[in-house]
Amino acid sequence: MKILVTGGTGYIGSHVVVELLQKGDEVIILDNLINSKTTSLANIEKITGKMPTFYQENLINYGAIEKIFKDHDFDLVIHFAGLKSVSESVEKPITYYQNNLTGTINLLKCMRDFHVKKLIFSSSATVYGDSNEPKCVETMPTGKGITNPYGKTKFMIEEILKDVCTSDSEFSAVALRYFNPVGNHSSGLLGEEPNGIPNNLMPYVMKVASGELPELSIYGNDYDTPDGTCRRDFIHVTDLAKGHLAAISALNTPGFKAYNLGTGTPTSVLEMVNAFEKVSGRPLPYKFAPRRAGDLAEIWADPSKAKNELNWQAELTIEDAIKDTLTFLENHRDMV
Ligand code: UD1
Repeated sequence: MKILVTGGTGYIGSHVVVELLQKGDEVIILDNLINSKTTSLANIEKITGKMPTFYQENLINYGAIEKIFKDHDFDLVIHFAGLKSVSESVEKPITYYQNNLTGTINLLKCMRDFHVKKLIFSSSATVYGDSNEPKCVETMPTGKGITNPYGKTKFMIEEILKDVCTSDSEFSAVALRYFNPVGNHSSGLLGEEPNGIPNNLMPYVMKVASGELPELSIYGNDYDTPDGTCRRDFIHVTDLAKGHLAAISALNTPGFKAYNLGTGTPTSVLEMVNAFEKVSGRPLPYKFAPRRAGDLAEIWADPSKAKNELNWQAELTIEDAIKDTLTFLENHRDMV
């Protein structure tokens, strides 16, 4: 199959590209490199022995996207490209709405004009908002109590996809609702390299482990959870990537479908830190700090729909993710 992957040099996109190339698909990557580097292309080639075709373009530029669709006859599109910082989205809502929504609309317009009717969208558990049970099932209502523009773009794009599927009885769209992706490819060649001080837990832990930052702040230890810290569903990014390949089968039936990609097991922030110390054999300096605004006490996936319909389930553990993170850090020691 010939697959367009938008955002294919990014953290999750690059892991999906590796799995697709290893399966034998032809991959064309579109990425503006705003939050990734071309080194991930070289590393994809090192892992798979194949170099995907690459276009450095922004989905905002309709003409450039149209040209790529003229040059290639795609079977399907996997759409990762988008801005993803919760805090930045609160500061720059217009930038987030323009990038994520206009970018997606441009992509959908090209897909319509060039008769490409299959799309997998990189969505998030954030669409469940703050008014549901902590264990999320796809039948729960979405969109209520989303606290930031980034999360709202994920919800809004899901709604747009539903409307596109209603208007075109041949169109199929799958939204994959990610929980908390962690870890990296076991080679340690690909991984998350955020610019500046990270917001997310594991990128922050990595900077503390490498000595770049002095200590981790654990936001809140007075939640109504077993150890007082928040609980999340941390899923190895390789399991997550494999979920995309499994989701391709769901594109054979037209219409909109959503699937949770999570392990089904919550892990607390403190448990994550303890596991990191155990696997690395070194202490990870941390302190308890006040709660972070907008955080949910706990949220995890009910992954049974993906298991039943896609025959997919997470297989790797948080210890696997930590081990692979340490390999990544070892490989990038000279960059720290
Ligand atoms: C957030 C977003 C989610 C997005 C994900 C990945 C919301 C509500 N959540 O998830 O949509 O997909 O990021 O970008 O919009 N923590 C610390 N110290 C730190 C960093 C984090 O204690 O330095 C804690 C947080 O308080 C939280 C947990 O670690 O309890 C996970 O945080 P994080 O990695 O930022 O992910 P989420 O907030 O779950």
